[in-house]
Amino acid sequence: MRLVPVTSGDAEVYSELRNGENTYKWFFSEKKYSQNEVMAWIEGSISKGDINLFGYVDDRLVGAVSLYNILHNPYWQADIGRVMVVEDQRGRGYGKMLIREASKLAREKGLETLAAYIKENNLSSRRAFESVGYKDTLNGSNGVLEYLAPPNFI
Ligand SMILES: CC(C)(COP(=O)(O)OP(=O)(O)OC[C@H]1O[C@@H](n2cnc3c(N)ncnc32)[C@H](O)[C@@H]1OP(=O)(O)O)[C@@H](O)C(=O)NCCC(=O)NCCS
Repeated sequence: MRLVPVTSGDAEVYSELRNGENTYKWFFSEKKYSQNEVMAWIEGSISKGDINLFGYVDDRLVGAVSLYNILHNPYWQADIGRVMVVEDQRGRGYGKMLIREASKLAREKGLETLAAYIKENNLSSRRAFESVGYKDTLNGSNGVLEYLAPPNFI
């Protein structure tokens, strides 16, 4: 899988992926966003230092993943999420691949702690993170679970 940074020029493709009928409802906002809103969001996200990535397999877009809330103090940490696989490409291991490749990149960038926040009823997302080695910390609340990458798992 090849990871390619998302730019504001990708707003159309990103919003199509993000607004999918079996995609938008798994985000905490549970909302669809217009292309302009997505473009503004991408620009804001990049300026905050987020790393939003598309994943390509054989030059075909299969999904996206993000590293965000990146903090360098007191230690290096980030959240990993906004994982989305193109709806007709699901169940082929691409979700796991996106999470694994983004986690590797995070490690290469020196990020020590990686956290994912997942709705309790999002079984496919939970399973994808668990398969890569993430563990439920049991510290979640209000139907949202917290998963952490164990140290040196990748
Ligand atoms: C979550 C998502 C990224 C998973 O991507 P995917 O490519 O379909 O998942 P994979 O094929 O890599 O499968 C991951 C694991 O989940 C399991 N799985 C896949 N779909 C499942 C489902 N509907 N129910 C339960 N388990 C499921 C797979 O068997 C696999 O487990 P295994 O390693 O034990 O075999 C994808 O479903 C998606 O884009 N969902 C909408 C957006 C979303 O929920 N994002 C996460 C927000 S936290």
